[in-house]
Amino acid sequence: EFGKIASELNLEIYLVGGAVRDALLGKKIVDFDFVTNDAISFGKRLKEKFNGTIEIFEETQTVHFVFNGMNFDFVTARREYYVDNSLVPVIEKATLKEDLARRDFTINAMAVDIREKNFGILYDYFNGYEDLLKGIIRVLKPLSFIEDPSRIFRAIKYMVELKFKFSRESEILLKKAVEIGALFSSKSQRVQEELKELIAKDEIDQVIQFFTNYGILKEIFRINGIPKATVSAIKSFYKTEKDTTKRIHAFLFLIYLSKCHINEEEVNKIFGIRKHEILKIKEAIEVFKNIKESFSKEDLPSIVIKLNNLDLTYVHAYYYKTKGEVKKFFKDYLEKLRFIKNELRGSDLKELGLKEGPQYRKIFDILTSLKLKGEIKDKNDEIKYLL
Ligand code: CTP
Repeated sequence: EFGKIASELNLEIYLVGGAVRDALLGKKIVDFDFVTNDAISFGKRLKEKFNGTIEIFEETQTVHFVFNGMNFDFVTARREYYVDNSLVPVIEKATLKEDLARRDFTINAMAVDIREKNFGILYDYFNGYEDLLKGIIRVLKPLSFIEDPSRIFRAIKYMVELKFKFSRESEILLKKAVEIGALFSSKSQRVQEELKELIAKDEIDQVIQFFTNYGILKEIFRINGIPKATVSAIKSFYKTEKDTTKRIHAFLFLIYLSKCHINEEEVNKIFGIRKHEILKIKEAIEVFKNIKESFSKEDLPSIVIKLNNLDLTYVHAYYYKTKGEVKKFFKDYLEKLRFIKNELRGSDLKELGLKEGPQYRKIFDILTSLKLKGEIKDKNDEIKYLL
């Protein structure tokens, strides 16, 4: 149908990028990217014919169309080039070949004509098909990773997901780009998104291996390697937790647990994690750094209360990091102790005539502590104790 519309308007239209790659690999496609020579007129005609959500962006010369849960993006063929060390490229209308030439890897730089008269003709100017068959990730130009550092993480994503290998030159170019600080060169949303997607992957051990080999670990965390025990703790955590945000937070917590210094500016810049979230990680690290000593110095209830005041994610992550007696305690905490809480709420304390303020927290902690010791059992006991 898109081919027909394009023909009526006398436009060229090609399916490009990841969709072509995935189609050739026999994978299911959900996001379709098209290149045409006038996305705006195409989009206007689309609006007349379909009643899905159609957004037309004059400024970027692109159209977004959602239909039956599938995403269709139409872009006007363009060339991009950089002048005078500018981080923002100059954009001009261009041919299909030039449009493909600005892309990341050969396997993502193929196009298929979808007009009826030429349906299925593959345009493969950079030998992407051969690379796809051989399983090779190859950049189209030497500056590719420097112009768009998110490609560093995209390359690793394909190596992990598709089990592809780097071409020799591309691997050298990636290492060079990392070495000269490309990852921190701009605060780019794309870099953050691709990095977070990688870090939340089930195959986190492979990702860590690539990060180590390519000097990324050193750039981001100022470390040369991650201890095996930490890697397997992260892996175990991921087995029971599918939420990507929690995975990322647990990952950072476990990495920083063994390395005391956290540079908030850097973590914020590269992961886009807010300062107060980083503070929570730091707080958790403080508690866990001294946890073994706490066992000899403090009583159990006070440790439990400390843990109650942390995000469960970190306690859960720490459980996989520890061994022996301490691990037993954490299992107990996760399964039972954390549910033992005072029943009285703030509103109850108010009714009892206690003035609102920070002392409420203290009262709750005392009640929880007594409950953990078995000295009080229910709400009535709590009230009796307070009176
Ligand atoms: N692209 C690029 N450089 C990037 C991101 C994308 O050149 N940093 C190009 C690639 O040709 C890519 C296309 O834009 O195929 C679409 O990008 P996107 O939808 O992010 O990637 P897909 O390849 O479609 O999908 P995935 O990210 O899942 O591989």
